[in-house]
Amino acid sequence: MGITNNPFSLEGKTILVTGASSGIGQGCAVMAAQLGAKVIACGRNEERLKGTIDQLDGEGHTSFAGELTDPMVIESLVANLPALDGVVFSAGISMTAPFTFSTRDKFDKVFNVNFFSPVELLRLMVKKKKLVNGASVVFISSVGGNFGFSVGNGIYGASKAALNSMSRLCSLELAPKKIRVNSICPGMVVTPLVEGFSENITQEDIQKDIDFYPLKRYGKPEDIAGGVVYLLSDAASWVTGQAICIDGGITAY
Ligand SMILES: NC(=O)c1ccc[n+]([C@@H]2O[C@H](COP(=O)([O-])OP(=O)(O)OC[C@H]3O[C@@H](n4cnc5c(N)ncnc54)[C@H](OP(=O)(O)O)[C@@H]3O)[C@@H](O)[C@H]2O)c1
Repeated sequence: MGITNNPFSLEGKTILVTGASSGIGQGCAVMAAQLGAKVIACGRNEERLKGTIDQLDGEGHTSFAGELTDPMVIESLVANLPALDGVVFSAGISMTAPFTFSTRDKFDKVFNVNFFSPVELLRLMVKKKKLVNGASVVFISSVGGNFGFSVGNGIYGASKAALNSMSRLCSLELAPKKIRVNSICPGMVVTPLVEGFSENITQEDIQKDIDFYPLKRYGKPEDIAGGVVYLLSDAASWVTGQAICIDGGITAY
């Protein structure tokens, strides 16, 4: 027997997810649909996007393929949006570089995807009144932004710290419209984003890193999606301005 008026349900909500063609964004799209949401899945690779749509429970889901650092693409996406009850900004890239190799072009590359693109998307969504009163916005940030610091992670970490800062600021500016804005800060999650790292690290070093996690494993996309769907739901209607770590306990040390 289901719970009537289940506050965790996303039934009747339309949720846009960027980065939905892979990893964490895909996990969020799948779980949001399981909870009843109609999903607008955004990514670049049309085949992978179709793969996501095929995994979604329910009907009425749509996809949008485009390069989200392109201002024209951002404008056309926003212009064609229906009213949204929630947005998950998961599209992102990583980069590892020692500080002395952290040149402006590398900062630009990472900040364009991880910071400027979601911030401009949100700005236009608010300006064009695409978010309903009571909508929930979730930025996928990282523990590497403000909570854990590792050598070589400066550019990526700075992009996520900037995102956490903007998330908190937006939570205050959008609170009068009852729009909630939070970020989720994952620890290491096994996705294509981090699979490339293993080329440069031995299996032994990876195991040492895993063992350092109090819960003794890396995350899965659904570990992050669980927190995201909570924030999208009415169960989180008094939660805003937070950066929530979902990280197997790594930042508890
Ligand atoms: N995995 C981790 O350990 C981890 C930890 C902390 C935070 N995060 C954050 O979580 C988010 C998702 O990461 P993930 O691990 O799921 O990575 P992923 O599997 O590589 O997925 C990245 C997604 O972003 C999309 N994307 C990248 N650049 C884009 C652009 N310029 N325009 C439009 N879409 C773009 C990709 O689209 P296409 O595939 O279609 O090109 C893909 O859907 C990122 O913001 C990342 O920083 C990840």
